[in-house]
This record gives sequence, structure tokens and C-alpha cells, in this order.
Amino acid sequence: MKKVSALFLGALAAAFQCSAATPSFTVDASHSAGNVSPRLYGLMTEEINHSYDGGLYAELIRNRNFRDSDKDPAHWSAITGNGAEANIALDTANPYNDALTTSLRLTVTKAAKDQPAGAANEGYWGIPVTPHTKYRVTILARADENFSGPLHVSLASEAGYFGKGAFASGEISGLTKDWKKFEVTLKTGSLTPTTKARFDITVDHPGTVWLGMVSLFPPTWNNRPNGLRKDIMQMMVDMNPKFLRFPGGNYVEGDTIETRFEWKKTIGPIEQRPGHQCPWGYRSTDGLGLLEFLEWCEDMHAEPVLAVYAGYSLRGMHVNPGADLAPFVQDALDEIEYVTGDASTKWGAQRIKDGHRAPFPLHYVEIGNEDWFDKSFSYDARFTQFHNAIKMKYPTLKLISTIGNDQASIPHVKSSKPDMSDEHYYKNADDFLKMSPTYANNYDRHGEEIFVGEWAAHETSFPPWDKRSSDEPPTPNMKAAIGDGAFMAAMERNSDIIKMQCYAPMFVNVNPGGRQWRPDLIGYDAISVYGAPSYYAIQMFSRNVGDQILSVDGADTTVQGCATRNSRSGEIFIKLVNPQATEQAVNIQIKGVPAMASKGTAITLAGKTDDTNSITEPKHVVPVTTIVNDVHPDFNYTLPANSIVVLKLKGR
Ligand code: AHR
Repeated sequence: MKKVSALFLGALAAAFQCSAATPSFTVDASHSAGNVSPRLYGLMTEEINHSYDGGLYAELIRNRNFRDSDKDPAHWSAITGNGAEANIALDTANPYNDALTTSLRLTVTKAAKDQPAGAANEGYWGIPVTPHTKYRVTILARADENFSGPLHVSLASEAGYFGKGAFASGEISGLTKDWKKFEVTLKTGSLTPTTKARFDITVDHPGTVWLGMVSLFPPTWNNRPNGLRKDIMQMMVDMNPKFLRFPGGNYVEGDTIETRFEWKKTIGPIEQRPGHQCPWGYRSTDGLGLLEFLEWCEDMHAEPVLAVYAGYSLRGMHVNPGADLAPFVQDALDEIEYVTGDASTKWGAQRIKDGHRAPFPLHYVEIGNEDWFDKSFSYDARFTQFHNAIKMKYPTLKLISTIGNDQASIPHVKSSKPDMSDEHYYKNADDFLKMSPTYANNYDRHGEEIFVGEWAAHETSFPPWDKRSSDEPPTPNMKAAIGDGAFMAAMERNSDIIKMQCYAPMFVNVNPGGRQWRPDLIGYDAISVYGAPSYYAIQMFSRNVGDQILSVDGADTTVQGCATRNSRSGEIFIKLVNPQATEQAVNIQIKGVPAMASKGTAITLAGKTDDTNSITEPKHVVPVTTIVNDVHPDFNYTLPANSIVVLKLKGR
């Protein structure tokens, strides 16, 4: 009796162990449980962490219009020594125009052919010099009457070159006492790529020269003249984004009403853009302005999701709804016209004059950003004022409220009906794992659409705004990617209502002093770029998605996942996340298909939780593609420890 009982218990334990060790994940392929939003995967951007200046925007001169500081010519230094004598200073007399209010005065008291004196710019943590490359230099300059030119311009080694050893050089002549624009192209030959370079402007006679703006561009994506860095653009294109949310984030709001994103000051020739102080502690050139955002979308085949300033700024100031707010509402209407208008409209004609004939597609406009911080509770009335004016002129545009379901510590908009609301989630990876299995299950399917306009998992207990997070690397590790994977699976399962989502922030310049926030998705210095494991997780999700949601059963805290199908090809995409430190076998059951093609594909991102990527090891954690054999409507698949797996399978 004793023996039988022990055997029975042993068998029971084995059976229990087996089922506990092999959880099932059931995909109902008998019907579609809803449509996957065609805009589900997109990108979010703002000027933070030197995303544009010192990042995507390809300008190489730092403080090109001398307005970064009103105390000294930041990032510029005088070139002296070897017998040459000179000094540089900010000068507000005789400015080039109202935008370029300050120039750099270079006073050379001693210089000769082999003893050049001048001014050097250090770039954004160096200037990237690559072989056989053309660099476009644009300089606004004037000189005193006795100046007998020319100006020598060169890409020089960090140590300075004193006429020797420049990577590339050129000459500018014809300076007069009046401002003039000069352009020259520098061309490098064979060399080893480096960032240990600077940009030198030198003269070999005594005299005084004023520089109003100095600009240096390498080749850009699609050769756009005021364009974007090619390597960073490629990273984004590879994510297959369907939209770009811009320009913020806090950047659209500004610290104060005066320092909001004023789009009208970000268009036209760069020498007419004054730039402004951004809320992340440095000045933006606005070289990447409204038209550049739109062309960036166009170049990625993504559509803009335009955020307009809505009368609330970060230090708690708000504009009173009513007459005070009216000019800001008009500004938003003008902005929409700039994006979408034709030649017969004032702002459409301005866009054409600025260089882009075709209107841009626009379906969504976001009214402000995180207006739950406005403790005056004015958002209901502010949103409604924007809503009524925009809907009157553009009835088909969908308007996004920034008070999302989850964060709403203040009442949601009631006086008008937002089409969509924006939710933000910055959470610890473990919290994402806990919330994801049930996320959005109880959302009203007939209510407003949901935009998860900012989200990101961090690995530590410090949230991004905690100063202690600054000791961590700028980009997150595999543990965060697991949290991100679980949350993306939840959003994809619910993409009948979660219509758009985007990670934030997207970019970080990894140099000391480059960042204000972590974690970030894509890191770079002046010459290299890499993606965090989370970058690859997003890429795996966004590049492998069908148009039909398939309901799944079994997404729990052991293994989480989702499934979709491409209705045209029949391909089924099953995404699984194993957050455990051990491998996990899963019994995958695909209901409603008589048979499966026996071969499928698996794309796997796996590693130890602290595995990560960096500038020096950019590809330490990357997805690996393998063939899956013996696929059936009921089959077992083993997920590696700490992994995200996309299975691409076909029904027969
Ligand atoms: O993504 C960083 C910041 O987080 C955004 O600017 C803001 O919207 C949020 O608080």
C-alpha cells in the first residue's frame, strides 16, 4: 500500500512537473480578433540628450551662431602660438540680422604664412573626419577695411596643425566690411576615420574679422542640404516606423511660454533661425526645424504625428483659455496649413518657398504634452478651444488629448471629445512584466483610441528622472529589453484600441555631459551609432507583424506573448518573451488550422540580463535568425533564458 501510494505520488509529481514545466501558449487562428493598427509601430522625438544638435542633425560646428552663451564664445578657442597672436570675443555690434544677434570677433595682432592665427571650433565632442568625403562649409563674415584675406578653413587634428597636416583645407577670399555669405567644399583623401579633429579658420596677416555664422556639413541622408546624419537615419529606417511623433515631449512645451517650440522661428534659411533655449539645459539651433522634421518623416516613409503647443509650459505657467489662448490656436492652425496646405494657402505657399512643393500627409495632431501636470485644471478648456477651431477647418484630423487613462490625476477632457488619448509609461522591467498580461484588457473598445506616446523599461529601481540613474550606462541592457518585449506584446494584443505606440527617448549622445535622461534607445558619438537590446526588440516586433490580431491564451508571468497573421500571405507571427533565467519549453497550440508548414523561422534575441551594447561593443546582443523544423498545430518550442522570440509560421 505504502509502495503503491509512493509510486502514484511520484507519477503525479512527474505529471505535475511536466505540465508546470511546459506551459501552453494557444493561438486561435480560426478567426481574426480585430485589426492590427497599421500605425502601431512608430518613433518619438524631441531635443533631449543632444538628439539633434550633436546628434541626428548633421551640423558639425557647435555654437555655430555664437548664441550658446552670452558670456563667452563657448566651444570656440583662439589659435595662437608659434609666434602668432590673436584673441576672440563675442560682439553684439553690427549683427548680421535679428536672428544672429552676436558675432565672433577675431582680432589678429601677429600672424604670418607659417604662423597662422585664428579661431577653432571643437565640434560636438570632436568632429568626425572620414576618408574621401566632401564637407560643405558656409560662413557669414565681414572684416575691417585693412584686412587683406584670405581666410583659410580646414579640418585639422585636435592638436592644431599650424599650416601642416590638415585633413582637408580650403580658402575664402573677398571679405569686405559688409556681411557676405561664403561657401567652400573641403575634400578629404585617404585617412583613418577619427573624431579627434577640429575646424580651424585662420589668417596669415594681422587684422580683424567678424564671423556671423559658421556651418560645416558632411554628406547627409538623401543629400538634403540642411540634412540628417546617414548612419542614424539608417538605424531608424531599419525599424520600419509608420509615424514620427514630434517635437515633444517637453520640448514642445518649453520651460516657459517664451521658450516653447515656436515653429515659425524654425523655418527658412538657417541664418534666419535664432534658435532657443530648450528645456533640457542647452540651446537648440533649430537647424532641425519644422520642415526638416517633415522631410525626416518623408525620408522614412512615415507620417508625422504633429504636437502643437497648447498653452502650458513646464514651470507651471499656462495661457488662459479664451482671448489669451486665441493667438496660440491660430498658430496651430497656421502650422497645420504649413504641413498640409497647397500653393493657394499662405502657409502652404511658404512651405513651397522653403523648398517642399507637395503637402505632407497628416492624420493626427496632439494638443500639448502631459497636460496632467497643469494643476490649474485648464486643459479641458484649452483642449476644447483647440479642438473646436481645428475641427472647424480640418474636420477629418484626429485630435489627441495628452491626459491618458492611466496617469489622469486630473479630470479627463469633458467639454469636447478627443479622438485619442496619450498614455506614458516609464517603468521598471519587473513592473512591465507584472502589468502586461492584463494591460488594456478592460479598456472601453468603443471609447477613444489610445496612443502610448512614450514608454520605456529601465532595469534599476531608479526611474529616469532620479539623479542616481546618471551612474548607469545611457542605454539599457537585456533585462530592460525583456520588460519592453512583454509590454510590446501587450500593446500588440490590444492593437484594436492601442493604435500607435513609440519608445522614448529615442536618442542619446553618449559623451560625458551629452545626456539628461536614461534609458535611451539609440546611442552615438560623433562617428559611431549603436542600438540597445531594446532597439532590436522593437525592430523584431515592428518588422514582423500581420494585419489581423489572433487571440492568445497563456500569456502570464512565466511566458508572455501575442500573435498576428498576415491576411494576404497567411503567415502567422507568434511573439514570445521568456523573462526567466532558465530556458523554457512552451507547448504552442495553433487552433483553427488543419496543418502547418513544417518549416518556420525563429528570430531570437537572448542573453544574460546584464548583457548590453555600447559604442565599443555595438553588436554584443543582436537578433539571430534560425530555421524551426517540425512545426505542427501542436508543437513544443524551447525559449532560451531571458529571451524574446518571434516565430514566423505558415498554415497549410
Ligand atoms: O521622454 C522624456 C520626457 O518624459 C518627455 O519630454 C516628457 O514628455 C516625459 O515626461
